[in-house]
Amino acid sequence: MKKGFMITPWEVSGDIDYSKLIKQFGTEKINDELLKRIKKHTGKLHFMLRRGVFFSHRDLNWLFDQYENGNKFYLYTGRGPSGKMHLGHLLPLVITKWLQDKFKSKLYFQMTDDEKFVVKRNLSLEETNRFAYENALDVIAMGFDPKKTVIFSDVDSAGILYKQALKVAKKLTFSTAKAVFGFTNETNVGLIFYTSMQSVPAFLESVFKKKNIPCLIPHAIDQDPFFRGVAREILPKLGYYKPAAIHCTFLPSLTKDGKMSSSNENSAIFTTDDKEEVKFKVMNAFTGGRDTLKEQEKKGGRPEICIVYKYLYMMFEDNDKKLSKRVEECKKGKIMCKDCKRYLIDKINDFLEDHQRKRKKAEKELDLFFTLKN
Ligand code: TYM
Repeated sequence: MKKGFMITPWEVSGDIDYSKLIKQFGTEKINDELLKRIKKHTGKLHFMLRRGVFFSHRDLNWLFDQYENGNKFYLYTGRGPSGKMHLGHLLPLVITKWLQDKFKSKLYFQMTDDEKFVVKRNLSLEETNRFAYENALDVIAMGFDPKKTVIFSDVDSAGILYKQALKVAKKLTFSTAKAVFGFTNETNVGLIFYTSMQSVPAFLESVFKKKNIPCLIPHAIDQDPFFRGVAREILPKLGYYKPAAIHCTFLPSLTKDGKMSSSNENSAIFTTDDKEEVKFKVMNAFTGGRDTLKEQEKKGGRPEICIVYKYLYMMFEDNDKKLSKRVEECKKGKIMCKDCKRYLIDKINDFLEDHQRKRKKAEKELDLFFTLKN
């Protein structure tokens, strides 16, 4: 592990070495063979898969064995509603939507207003519950099919979820929870119990359909402890399949250190930011530029450390040719950081203009998605 590196579901900091993480967490790399297998079913590969933004997985080959034998999978992902959503939170949703379209899969989307209430000292239950519905606007705006998507708040659907969470919790010892999540004697018991709640949607469809249905969970790697340490350990003991998962890297903070995070306003672009805010934040982002324009013209820029480039690579420039041309020109000192920043600002603002319009429309569509009634 690189120095100063830390990753838990509630805190991510430092310079993350993703290949070491694969070893440490015991996941598998998404290799060319697997990409070919996915492509066989999807026709084209999403650029986030092709470029390794989604870099690791659990049991995807098993999932496709099942799929090829006619046992279709459903999707499950979620959000901890503790405030506004930022672009990083949308990244797993991009691939989730793509997978829903390609495989016509049902999606369960968990809003963990319970988790965020027990974790965040400064938030009331009313606030996290309100954010669950506010954040759902962003989820809906991503274009999920209302006929195939169920969004729910843990608190408001507790009547259904609690019964299932109890079955998981009964098999989860405190010593396992401590080992997996690093809990201490100071951890509140609400959070300890919550760890079982995040397993529930990984077998909920099997409960409803009264037969085993494979589940695939797209998420960033920080959520892996929930699935590695709880769901995948305990679900087989309850007679259900282990969920499969596909993991993305983190959209970095604009200011370089760590991942994009709501706790540092300037590190993040929120889905509700206006054009001027986006411009201000990107203009102040960390780049691979040199100290002076002259030096940059001479030596060229360094895309390998540039956050603006990372945003284009990971999320905002799907055209490989355009991207590599930009890299070449940067390295030769033919384009300067402000050119790339302007390019990214336009890309983000175009995306957000559309997203914010859909988000507004979603205010009238909440009932179509919140259908998990107690
Ligand atoms: P939360 O709200 O912390 O994050 C929501 C989703 O966004 C991912 N994520 C990121 N992805 C890319 N770049 C970033 N900078 C970035 N920051 C966060 C997270 O990995 C997550 O996929 N406990 C969960 C809620 C949850 C959940 C789930 C998430 C419940 N069930 C199943 C994923 C799958 C949470 O607080 O997520």
